Amino acid sequence: MFAIPGHVLYHNTFAVTINASDQTLLEWLIDLTFLEPGLMSIAVKTAEEIEKMRLAGRLAAEVLEMIEPHVQPGVSTEEIDQICHDYIVQQQKATPAPLNYMGFPKSICTSVNHQVCHGIPGGKTLKNGDIVNIDITVIKDGFHGDTSKMFFIGEPSVLARRLTKITLEALWIGIEQVRPGAHLSNIGHAIQQYVESNNYSIVREYCGHGIGRKFHEEPQVLHYGSPGNGVLLQPGMCFTIEPMVNAGKRQVKLLPDGWTVVTKDRSLSAQWEHTMLVTETGYEVLTLRKGEENALPGAT
Ligand code: MF3
Ligand code: CO
Ligand code: CO
Repeated sequence: MFAIPGHVLYHNTFAVTINASDQTLLEWLIDLTFLEPGLMSIAVKTAEEIEKMRLAGRLAAEVLEMIEPHVQPGVSTEEIDQICHDYIVQQQKATPAPLNYMGFPKSICTSVNHQVCHGIPGGKTLKNGDIVNIDITVIKDGFHGDTSKMFFIGEPSVLARRLTKITLEALWIGIEQVRPGAHLSNIGHAIQQYVESNNYSIVREYCGHGIGRKFHEEPQVLHYGSPGNGVLLQPGMCFTIEPMVNAGKRQVKLLPDGWTVVTKDRSLSAQWEHTMLVTETGYEVLTLRKGEENALPGAT
């Protein structure tokens, strides 16, 4: 989620709000974190904490499975929000993390067509040809699970379907970089290079994030950049990967509601998100849905 610029950069010892004009300070801070990884405190979770992350991740995935049949032409995003809210609270005995998070008014995020992320569910109904991202974060037993996927309403255009597919593949290319000893920045590098080689653009202002007892923890997981930088991944670290990909230019703007991010050129945008655990041998996708597998051609 939040990043760079215009947002808050967290360190273990201090937090500063970065203005767009503070680019130099921002770059200095990023350099500092790359040069001095010790400045970033990325939690390595205990076995007990990992079990709780697994549960939170599974519940978040199950909300996306549950909502699938409801995502239809004529349904409003507010109705989808209500169904998810009730399911999380009543069936899962969990908490929808977005509700009241920094003032967010709803329990899920719904981002339609040229909306990039953090769309607020409302009365507008989905129509044939729309693409919509539904982003679910639940808190269970104190831990967060965060995941999102794209849904097709009826039959979207060839462009919309291709954008959605390339974005899903970009997520999985990022996922495949995750293993102990790998540099964090390898993830973003692989994603950016895949997206741009397909003539789409990667949004830079928002990023993946560490996750655990807090919704957004260190590190920031950028979806672009050069490889071989930043902290080395260690077993027990948990973070999200959540590339936002635009069919047109990468620039975005924030709507006056203070939340909804849209593409500046009004081109379509897609996003997929998973919560990851670094394991001894590679990775575990904590928010994998039933029947979901690595989306890359030829992957096992
Ligand atoms: N789920 C989003 C993320 O992936 C964050 C949404 S914050 C909210 O990081 F307040 F908009 F809900
Ligand atoms: Co997230
Ligand atoms: Co999310």
